[in-house]
Amino acid sequence: MSKRTEIKAILTDYKGLLGQEVTVMGWVRAFRSNRFIALNDGSCMNNLQVVVDYEQMDEALLKKASFHACIKVVGLLAESQGAGQAVEVIARKVEILGEANPEAYPMQPKAQSMEFMREHAHFRMRTNTFSAVFRIRHGVAYAIHKYFNDNGYYYMHTPIITGSDAEGAGEMFHVTALDLNKPPRTENGQVDYSQDFFGKATNLTVSGQLQAEIGALALGKVYTFGPTFRAENSNTSRHLAEFWMIEPEVAFYDIFDDMALAEDFCKYLINYILDTYPDDLAFLDERIKGLEKNLPQDQRRPMGLVDTLRFVVDNDFERITYTEAVNILRNSKPYKKGKFEYPVEWGKDLQAEHERYLVEKHFQKPVIVRNYPAGIKAFYMRLNETEEGVPGATVAAMDVLFPGIGEVIGGSQREERHDVLVQRMSDMNVPSEELWWYLELRKFGGAPHAGFGLGFERMVQFITGMGNIRDVIAFPRTPGNAEF
Ligand code: 4AD
Ligand code: MG
Repeated sequence: MSKRTEIKAILTDYKGLLGQEVTVMGWVRAFRSNRFIALNDGSCMNNLQVVVDYEQMDEALLKKASFHACIKVVGLLAESQGAGQAVEVIARKVEILGEANPEAYPMQPKAQSMEFMREHAHFRMRTNTFSAVFRIRHGVAYAIHKYFNDNGYYYMHTPIITGSDAEGAGEMFHVTALDLNKPPRTENGQVDYSQDFFGKATNLTVSGQLQAEIGALALGKVYTFGPTFRAENSNTSRHLAEFWMIEPEVAFYDIFDDMALAEDFCKYLINYILDTYPDDLAFLDERIKGLEKNLPQDQRRPMGLVDTLRFVVDNDFERITYTEAVNILRNSKPYKKGKFEYPVEWGKDLQAEHERYLVEKHFQKPVIVRNYPAGIKAFYMRLNETEEGVPGATVAAMDVLFPGIGEVIGGSQREERHDVLVQRMSDMNVPSEELWWYLELRKFGGAPHAGFGLGFERMVQFITGMGNIRDVIAFPRTPGNAEF
């Protein structure tokens, strides 16, 4: 292909290009008055205006430059006479790279439902909304690596196929090469996984944490950033069956260091996007205002998108214990009026409605809840000393809760005491044989350590303001849906 200038390069620094001939390629976002084409090549939010002379050019050809056709334009870059753009390309030559018959093209130039968009995931990335979301998604991924690299962490790749299903984070997907129609069986009729590919039963991982702990106890500070899989039948706007998780794990960190890292990390990511993607954010901010225009005041977000992001980076996250959270909830109006669907009782897990009350109504900012009852948390979380006024045993776990999203981060200080861990595993029926290596880490040069998992899509959802997690991952995997 001939030399092409990206639209982003033209729009951000056009001075040197003025009066020169440029070649641009992209998709037609609009064609007004037979004269003005709004061209977008995905490199940035804004379109480049292309001016064509309908009289001078082949009419049949220009007809094909319809909504979402892909075209190549060669022309002069000039200062624009019209309002709305600084520069425009006066087309000398237009070439059709890919037609898009306007009658047959499924995406029409009008508001479409999000469900419709998901069914057309092969085209939705060309819309303003989704291209902004996916540029920002990239930006968050980049910022994650930058943050950890700048702070001396090592990126570690943990396995996607795992032989242990002990994490207890949720239902797992089996991985097998056996013929499911006639699997080999053991004498007592069970599927004989010793004859399977790996010589044992295997699953898709729910988390890289247990292996990341190996890294932390060798390299000091590591993080993982990879896909994780959960076969829960959760049809909510915050759950995916395949999602990406970032899991830092740090030697010599306790739960307080862990919380400080979580807060600093979240703020860094949000700041990075505020600084680097202002146009995309401004577009998404306006989009939400448009969607909420006709809603009653109490159903609108308390602040615009950019203001919300600024508020989060400018304020300290609230820190409370689980026991304090339960007390706040039991003294709350919705609790007293019987408005909560789920019970609030010490020992029971906090439900989304409770988390949202704490974050959105009570504190009105992100909240970190720590020291959860041992009975509702994973076996590897460090058992706390008994505390006065706390009804039962707690573990050094922490969840970071965000407005509109709920839990974005779950983490803990890990149980580094071998005997306490063995006891916890036995109490919770976690098979210790397959985690022999995890226990050995506590026997040979063990150290206090802590870490957490950030749900990547939930963070992208928060930053972009998208209402459904399925709209921040290119090809969502959810119960009943694995198209594309
Ligand atoms: O709280 P979770 O289950 O924690 C762990 O897996 C730990 N091993 C993490 C660690 O300590 N290294 O998951 C971590 C985060 C949640 O806070 C949530 O943001 C996200 O992962 N998450 C999901 N995101 C989308 N869809 C799902 N089904 C999710 N389940 C968890
Ligand atoms: Mg969790």
